[in-house]
Amino acid sequence: MTAPIATPSNDANSVAQRVSELLAQMTLAEKIGQMCQLSASEGYAPDYLADDLRAGRVGSVINVVDVNAVNELQRIAIEESRLGIPLLVGRDVIHGFKTIMPIPLGQAASWNPDLVRKGARIAALEAAKTGVNWTFAPMVDISRDARWGRIAESFGECVLLTSALGAAMVEGFQSDDLTAPGAIGACAKHFAGYGAVESGRDYATTNVPETKLRNVYLRPFKAAVDAGVMSLMTSFSDLNGIPASGNEFLLRQVLREEWKYDGFVVSDWDSIRQLQIHGLTENDKQSAFEAATAGVDMEMAGDAYSKHLAELVDEGLVDTRAIDNAVANILRAKFRLGLFEKAITSPESLPAVGNNDALETARQAALESVVMLKNDNAVLPLSAESLKSIAVIGPLADAPYQQLGTWIFDGDVDLSITPMHAIHSLVGHDVNVRYVRAMEHSRSKVSESFNDAVEIARDSDAAVLFLGEESILSGEAHSRADISLPGDQAELVRRIRATGKPVVAVILAGRPLTLTNIVDHVDAILFAWHPGSMGGPAIADLLFGVKSPSGKLPATFPRMVGQIPIYYSQKNSGKPPSRDNIVHIDDIDTRAPQTSLGMSAFHLDTHFTPLFAFGHGLSYAKFDYRDIRVSAHEIGLGDTVTISAELTNSSDVAADEVVQLYVRDIVASITRPVKELKGFRRVRVEPHETVTVDFPLHTSDLTFFGRDMRPTVEPGEFHVWIGGSSETELRTEFRIVRGDGYEKF
Ligand code: NOJ
Repeated sequence: MTAPIATPSNDANSVAQRVSELLAQMTLAEKIGQMCQLSASEGYAPDYLADDLRAGRVGSVINVVDVNAVNELQRIAIEESRLGIPLLVGRDVIHGFKTIMPIPLGQAASWNPDLVRKGARIAALEAAKTGVNWTFAPMVDISRDARWGRIAESFGECVLLTSALGAAMVEGFQSDDLTAPGAIGACAKHFAGYGAVESGRDYATTNVPETKLRNVYLRPFKAAVDAGVMSLMTSFSDLNGIPASGNEFLLRQVLREEWKYDGFVVSDWDSIRQLQIHGLTENDKQSAFEAATAGVDMEMAGDAYSKHLAELVDEGLVDTRAIDNAVANILRAKFRLGLFEKAITSPESLPAVGNNDALETARQAALESVVMLKNDNAVLPLSAESLKSIAVIGPLADAPYQQLGTWIFDGDVDLSITPMHAIHSLVGHDVNVRYVRAMEHSRSKVSESFNDAVEIARDSDAAVLFLGEESILSGEAHSRADISLPGDQAELVRRIRATGKPVVAVILAGRPLTLTNIVDHVDAILFAWHPGSMGGPAIADLLFGVKSPSGKLPATFPRMVGQIPIYYSQKNSGKPPSRDNIVHIDDIDTRAPQTSLGMSAFHLDTHFTPLFAFGHGLSYAKFDYRDIRVSAHEIGLGDTVTISAELTNSSDVAADEVVQLYVRDIVASITRPVKELKGFRRVRVEPHETVTVDFPLHTSDLTFFGRDMRPTVEPGEFHVWIGGSSETELRTEFRIVRGDGYEKF
């Protein structure tokens, strides 16, 4: 990345000066106005927002996406308000604007920060055409519970993967130069701990010990801050008894004092007033007090600040310095964005939406996001030469809207190419493609047309089933307690299986699903998430071997819901399970009464392992890893060790492989995970080629927050693995020697 271009308007010194000069001219009412975001409602926004804008009562608007309306709002703010401060115009641009990329969890399966950055860049360019200058993404909540509907918006369960992809998304939205046309401000959300909601129920309580908060949940936010994210959004949830929108520990101690963050913090939608509903405050006035004192700079779509902040200041309860700080944080962002110079949007100066570059990026992102979970007897790729016919079956084969997934307010469904259409275009000349939808939607329990599906499967050489979840089943507030295939899909699979034809399942979904009841009834599974506008062509290319699957799971797939939370970086416990010390409920010998079974950390009625592990994903190539080694068996604090291995593609297929590096800190002053991802790289390996993959690891990469909540690296033994999934067993060791120092996080 090149350094931002300093102009008189956005270099740090002139921004600081402009902020303080402007602040000095503002009345208390105008300052509070900057701290208020108003939401658009029905109709032409300038009609009902003009008075508030003229009076300086608004710092930002949300959900206005008509460029004429936005330009008029900006014109009024600039020309008709006393100080002429332009507006932040916010919109949820989560995984694309008109052109839709895969859901963030799907993008995470690509393990490709460059592609995530590019997808965000395209989304920013498309959104900026409407005058939007601020998006509420990336969501960097670590998510280890697939019941939670918002796992779709996350990058999954892993600290490093989420941190890397979150930072890349920030860079994509904001570009190298925030003032450039088409750059928009990003917002890392939801600060913090939201992904830990109890039983995956959205908005529910979170209880996260401080060591876990610091070692897991906060780290991706720190990475976003280091990437220069313009803003942060508080979480709806209650963290350890103090809801995030009133949580001084998070917003002042961690964010401002420890991280020295100088962007601004926005509440989530009306979450300040919700402090009362949580039971933290008695009324909106007290909620405004708690939020302003804790450090929420801007209130999203509520009126606690506009109604009560002035009074709280007059009464001496909220310090004017707290108000000045909040307003300075917001103004700083506006200057950094170059908003005072580029508030009015000329859409024609930006590239057309849905252009070739956008569609190609969406296609590549979909391609790299698909994970091949199984492929028995190499049933995939299908051969257009040898197959005469295929049966395409299922509710998601030809569902242009559903393949886009959650959070696609502005998505253009006309840009969607469905798998059904793409298969026709790719092989329709050579292969007879028959199609039966079989179910109206993914939840359907009407099996009337299953017979038609069975019939076309019988008459074809192979059946490809497009199963999963409609988009409405994941996303905000859309949590599920049962995460198996909804409706009668499992029955449909069994009916098609009974035909004896090869069965391929392509699953489109917003979360990891429990696939235990179908996994043995299909020969192959491509897990495609909600793949976005270009999901169809990407899936068709993978089915027919034009490209090889290369996605890897960013989240563990449990066998059953009761295993949740199940994730690769669990702690060992004092009684770790192994294949030798577990018993299955069906194997309990009732003739010889037993008082103890296994005596380790497992469930009697399932396995201790997941169905598919984090990092898992198959390829049409055959990859073998060997010869793991370290550049030094002993290193000192502050040193770098390089871990390498040989990766051979022993097949005739060129393909990408995502190589993963895992580490375990064997003994530490607080217990450490059994494996932590510490590096990853997508590499292209040609047929019969061997490549050496190196991962430099600095001792600061091994930092964790210890008993005293300070970042530390402790000397001792470390195990390291390289491989193609978190289950890799290719291991070596090194030691950190010398003293016990602290290293900077
Ligand atoms: C609520 C959601 O939690 C948040 O993620 C989103 O950005 C805001 N609403 C704005 O729509």
